[in-house]
Amino acid sequence: MHRDHRVTRRQFVRSTGAAAALFTIVPRHVLGSQDAPSANEKINIAGIGVGGQGWGDIQNFRNENIVALCDVDDQRAGEAFNAFPNAKRFRDFRKMFDEMDKQIDAVMVATPDHTHAVICKEAMNRKKHLYCEKPLAHSVHEVRTLIDAARESGVVTQLGNQGHSSGSIRTFCEWIWDGAIGQVQEVHACCDAFKDVYSQIRNLPRRSETHTVPAHLDWDLWLGPVAERPYNPMYVPWNWRGWTPFGTGCIGDWICHVVDPVFWALDLGAPQSVQAEADEYDPVEHAEVYPPGTAITFEFAAKGDRGPVKLVWYDGDRRPPRPKDLEEGRNPPGTGAVVIGDKGTITYGSHGAGGVRIVPETKMQEYKSPEPTLPRVPGHHADWVNAIREGRQAGSPFSYGGPLTELGLLGMIAVRLAGTKLEWDGPNMRFTNSDEANRWVKPEARAGWAV
Ligand SMILES: NC(=O)c1ccc[n+]([C@@H]2O[C@H](COP(=O)([O-])OP(=O)(O)OC[C@H]3O[C@@H](n4cnc5c(N)ncnc54)[C@H](O)[C@@H]3O)[C@@H](O)[C@H]2O)c1
Repeated sequence: MHRDHRVTRRQFVRSTGAAAALFTIVPRHVLGSQDAPSANEKINIAGIGVGGQGWGDIQNFRNENIVALCDVDDQRAGEAFNAFPNAKRFRDFRKMFDEMDKQIDAVMVATPDHTHAVICKEAMNRKKHLYCEKPLAHSVHEVRTLIDAARESGVVTQLGNQGHSSGSIRTFCEWIWDGAIGQVQEVHACCDAFKDVYSQIRNLPRRSETHTVPAHLDWDLWLGPVAERPYNPMYVPWNWRGWTPFGTGCIGDWICHVVDPVFWALDLGAPQSVQAEADEYDPVEHAEVYPPGTAITFEFAAKGDRGPVKLVWYDGDRRPPRPKDLEEGRNPPGTGAVVIGDKGTITYGSHGAGGVRIVPETKMQEYKSPEPTLPRVPGHHADWVNAIREGRQAGSPFSYGGPLTELGLLGMIAVRLAGTKLEWDGPNMRFTNSDEANRWVKPEARAGWAV
């Protein structure tokens, strides 16, 4: 995989005078990716992984030029392929980049979690702007690699935590900064969705089944950086999220939606420690799957004007404590958070603090919201394309979405060592009290697939 120095059609036209245009080739790396298209010029977008969430994502870019679609499964990608008949089709993203490098300005990545890093890295080597689904990557090492590559390439990045572009997340931040509930000390975040998908313990024996790979799927490309194993329909599509080599479990799937509001409002950054409790979990027997339920505690040191914060994540049947001020008949969110300050409590749901309320409702009614200070944005996908046009960063760039993703990945590691309080040195990307935990910070990738 190489850094490409060819020029795009747009750069070629814009960077040269009419006469000189015939003779001058200006390499992309010289101009940099900030060569923003003009307001009415369409962006040439390639979609990689367009069968599931990516099918929804790519439709949000339909007003741009969808020039290429890449998917390892012709059947799963069928609707997208049919909707954009002019887009060139590929199975292998490396071939797509080699063949269409000059035509592609920006890339949408919505493959399973384990292939985000290798695809995004290649895209950034070629200076493509990136919209990557959450979580950013599958290991802390991969996240850091992508953050570095984004900074060095200067491309416009956006993680697919779409709630980050909501009005409600901005309202929540403004309330917190206004002191609506005083100093925040504790956050209890939770997800009660898809319990059967996130815990695949019951399916472990099925790994020895024999299945023929369907003709519409390239299984080897689907595996990407994961060591070769027999195809099994229990992994694809969608259910891979409950298997540790591919997915990131409930916490990895949801933290970028559910914890995003407090991560922003409290500028949480990296935790000092992480400790998990896990239901029915045996670290050897269950190494490839997630437990049916977890409670994972993160501790954050005091920072700026705020004191230390404790964040507890709950999934499966584990639930956050009921806020003491919550009226009878109301329940804490099934997927969302309870945010406790020294002067009150806020609850919110998923995807950008949906349904955010101060509790009890009487206190909510008395509260006078501050004037909005954060600019509102028209939508997450629109924010990214606007950012590319305006030559600025989008609202949830990898430098923000990466550290947010890391929380989930650290949680996954803590589950493997449930019961042990792991001390995390964020800047040096290592646990200071567990060599065993450090093994999972940078898991080995299949030869040829490492980032
Ligand atoms: N933002 C959200 O609300 C949201 C919702 C769902 C999923 N997601 C994220 O989207 C990503 C995809 O999840 P999903 O539920 O759509 O999974 P999925 O299995 O349903 O779909 C993944 C698609 O990617 C294709 N694919 C797999 N490997 C590929 C490769 N190497 N190259 C090209 N295509 C490949 C598959 O064939 C399929 O079409 C995940 O990272 C997930 O966390 C985000």
